[in-house]
Amino acid sequence: KPTKPLQGIKILVTAGPTREIIDPVRYITNRSSGKMGYALAESAAALGAEVTLISGPTALKPPAGVTFVPIETAQEMYEEVLKYFPDTNIVIKAAAVADYRPKIIYDNKMKKGDGDLVLELERTIDILKTLGEKKEKQILVGFAAETENVQAYATKKLKTKNLDMIVANNVKQEGAGFGVDTNIITIYTRNGEVMEYPLLSKQEAAKEILMKAATFLE
Ligand code: PMT
Repeated sequence: KPTKPLQGIKILVTAGPTREIIDPVRYITNRSSGKMGYALAESAAALGAEVTLISGPTALKPPAGVTFVPIETAQEMYEEVLKYFPDTNIVIKAAAVADYRPKIIYDNKMKKGDGDLVLELERTIDILKTLGEKKEKQILVGFAAETENVQAYATKKLKTKNLDMIVANNVKQEGAGFGVDTNIITIYTRNGEVMEYPLLSKQEAAKEILMKAATFLE
């Protein structure tokens, strides 16, 4: 039986949105459906990798054969990612992690008053940046969801987060980004390579991302 290209490789994928809790009935979230991250997890498993999928709440069924770790908040995602990180070869962060969360979580439902409400937010931890600081042999792949200046913002994230590659998608482009079954990606690598892809299904895009990431393994 021929060996599969990612046989023996441990891959950690994050997917979906996070939910940042305001009170027992309300939260802040974003438009991520999880489709990109689940496609990565499914393709990685099909290519022979040992896959862990850490996911925020989505409507999707976890792919067969992957270790599935459901989380809700950015803080929970951070804690789970750190548990798996030391024993991982490639990390792919397709999740749309909230950058801010409510500073106070109310134990009981907030009651409305007559006036407006100001909700104070504080920064969440940047998971990918933390991994970039801790990394030893792990290959780190980030995503950049942008609406303008895609190349400049993506390459800045590649450098400041100490990544091996970043997958940029302009989420304003039709057929790309949140919710849809397709994506239009550009991959930037730490070696200065730039790879632009046409409209692909998220499965096809996932395979390209995985095979490129694997070239960085020693
Ligand atoms: O889920 P889908 O509906 O299929 O949509 C796919 C997608 C648009 C969510 C996906 O393709 C994508 O772009 N994911 C990254 C979304 C994002 O949050 O991008 P960002 O540019 O804000 O963050 C940059 C990188 O840092 C990301 O890899 C992100 O996971 C990571 N990050 C961000 C904030 C934070 N606190 N911790 C992080 O690790």
